[in-house]
Amino acid sequence: MLKVAVLVSGGGTNLQALIDAVGSGSIENTEIVKVISNKSGVKALERAEKAGIPSEVIRKADFESAEAFDRALIDSIDRSEAELIVLAGFLLVLPPALVKKYENRIINIHPSLIPSFCGKGYYGLKVHEEALKRGVKITGATVHFVDEGCDSGPIILQKAVNIMDNDTAEVLQKRVMEEAEWKILPEAVNLIAAGRIKVSNGKVELT
Ligand code: GAR
Repeated sequence: MLKVAVLVSGGGTNLQALIDAVGSGSIENTEIVKVISNKSGVKALERAEKAGIPSEVIRKADFESAEAFDRALIDSIDRSEAELIVLAGFLLVLPPALVKKYENRIINIHPSLIPSFCGKGYYGLKVHEEALKRGVKITGATVHFVDEGCDSGPIILQKAVNIMDNDTAEVLQKRVMEEAEWKILPEAVNLIAAGRIKVSNGKVELT
């Protein structure tokens, strides 16, 4: 059984996709053992509670220093005994010590086809605003391992989504979630749980 901790910051629709996929059996041999949010009162926490998953809020503002916050986050993950950490709309950059400790065991969902529209400052709706501004015709989503850079780790899965003429950032965000994110994130977790993902020379190999 793969133990998974899910880190969230907001709506938690990707968390919901994972909960549903575990429930329906499309993710096998996996248990979501903890949800950690860096914000209180967010919908993602309600979703965790409804699914009976323990959750914890760890907010930067409650700590004296960035180091103390980082330590609390790492301790919380350690205590959960999670073997895989999923960033499902977690909008903070992870402490380098956490990335190092959990090398190739942290994955992130990003709402574009990396390397387009990613890196520092590209998160949430902003990603879709920039894609529309640039006039690209195809966007999508990417699941990748987290390394010490920003959206730079080995790519696990990607799925393309068409952009329509009259799209707003909000409409596009929803289509990317429905057609790509909520599919490839559960799929990636299932592949990892099945032991089918290997990282070699900075690239993902599917076995
Ligand atoms: C999702 O679109 C996710 O891809 C994005 O935030 C949204 C969270 O939605 N993540 C990033 O932009 C990370 N750089 P959710 O809370 O409903 O899952």
